[in-house]
Amino acid sequence: MGLITTKEMFEKAYKSGYSIGAFNISNLEQLQGVLNGAKAKNSNVIIQASMSAVKYTGPTTLVNMVINASNELGIDVALHLDHGPDMEAVKTCVEAGFSSVMFDGSHYDFEENIRLTKEIVDYAHAHGVVVEAELGVLAGTEDEVTSDVHKYTQPDEAVEFVEKTGVDSLAIAIGTSHGAFKFKGEAKLRFDILEEIQNKLPGLPIVLHGASAVDKATVAMCNEFGGDIKGASGVPVDMLRQASSMAVCKINIDTDLRLAMTGTVRKYLAENPSVFDPRKYIGAGRDAIQAVVENKIDTVLGSANSL
Ligand code: G3H
Ligand code: 13P
Ligand code: ZN
Repeated sequence: MGLITTKEMFEKAYKSGYSIGAFNISNLEQLQGVLNGAKAKNSNVIIQASMSAVKYTGPTTLVNMVINASNELGIDVALHLDHGPDMEAVKTCVEAGFSSVMFDGSHYDFEENIRLTKEIVDYAHAHGVVVEAELGVLAGTEDEVTSDVHKYTQPDEAVEFVEKTGVDSLAIAIGTSHGAFKFKGEAKLRFDILEEIQNKLPGLPIVLHGASAVDKATVAMCNEFGGDIKGASGVPVDMLRQASSMAVCKINIDTDLRLAMTGTVRKYLAENPSVFDPRKYIGAGRDAIQAVVENKIDTVLGSANSL
C-alpha cells in the first residue's frame, strides 16, 4: 500500500456529511498517535506537515516514515503539504512522494493568487498529486504568513478562483484562526459565507484551517505541571460539527495535538521524576494524541468507519 490522494475520501465525506481530519505532525510519535487513533476508529485520515515540519524531519524521511507506519497498521493515508509557500516547496514535496499539496497564496492579491495557484495545479496534476489552495486570510500566523485581521472569503471570488485554477479543494476564511488564542470574546463563525460558497460551488470540498477546539482541561494540565498558557480559546465543538455536516470535507488540527502531547509529557515527567527513558514520556504523549484523534473522529469529524 502506498499513499493515496484525498479525492475519493472527499467524495465520500461530501456526500455523507462528514469531514476528514488533517492532523499536523513533525515526528514519529505524533504520526503513530494519529494513525493509531484513525485505525481504532476505522477512519480515513490525512497526515499533514508544514514546510517547517518537512525541514525538521527531512522530506524523504517523512514520506518513508508515513508509508511504513501506515503499512504496518494496514491503513491507506494521504500525505499533504500544509501551507506550501511556493513552487519550490511544492516540488520538494511532490518529488519526495507527497500525494497532496496546499499552495497558500492567500497573502497575494487575487489575480496573483490565481496565477501562482494555476501553475502549481498544472505541475501537481501532471504528477498525480491533488492541490488545496486558500482564498481569504485567517487572522493569526500560519507558517510564514501573518495577519492581524480576518479577510473573509468572498463567495463570487471563490467561484472565479476555482474556475480559473482548477484546484481540487479550497480553504476559506470564515472566522477561525491558527494557534491557541482564537477568540477574544465570543466565538463566531460566518456560516452564511460557507453556505453561499457551498451553493455556488456544489461538490467542491471546502477546507477549514485553524480548527482546534483548545480543550480547557488540557490547557489546565499544561499549566498545572509548569506551563504558562494564558487566555487560550478555540472553536466550539458544535460549530466544528456543523461545518463538517456542510461542504467542509477537511478539518485541520495541529494545536490540539501539541497541547495534548505537551501537557501529558509535562505531567508524566513531574509524576515520574526518576524516569529518563524517552519512550516512557514520549510514549505517554503518543497515547494522548491517539485519544484526541479518536475523540475528534467521534465528536467533530463524524468519520468513523469510513475506511
Ligand atoms: O498552520 C500552520 C500549522 O499549524 C503548522 O505550523 O509551521 O509551526 O509547523 P508550523
Ligand atoms: P490549529 O492551530 O487550530 O490547530 O490549526 C491548524 C491548521 O490550520 C494547520 O494548517
Ligand atoms: Zn492552516
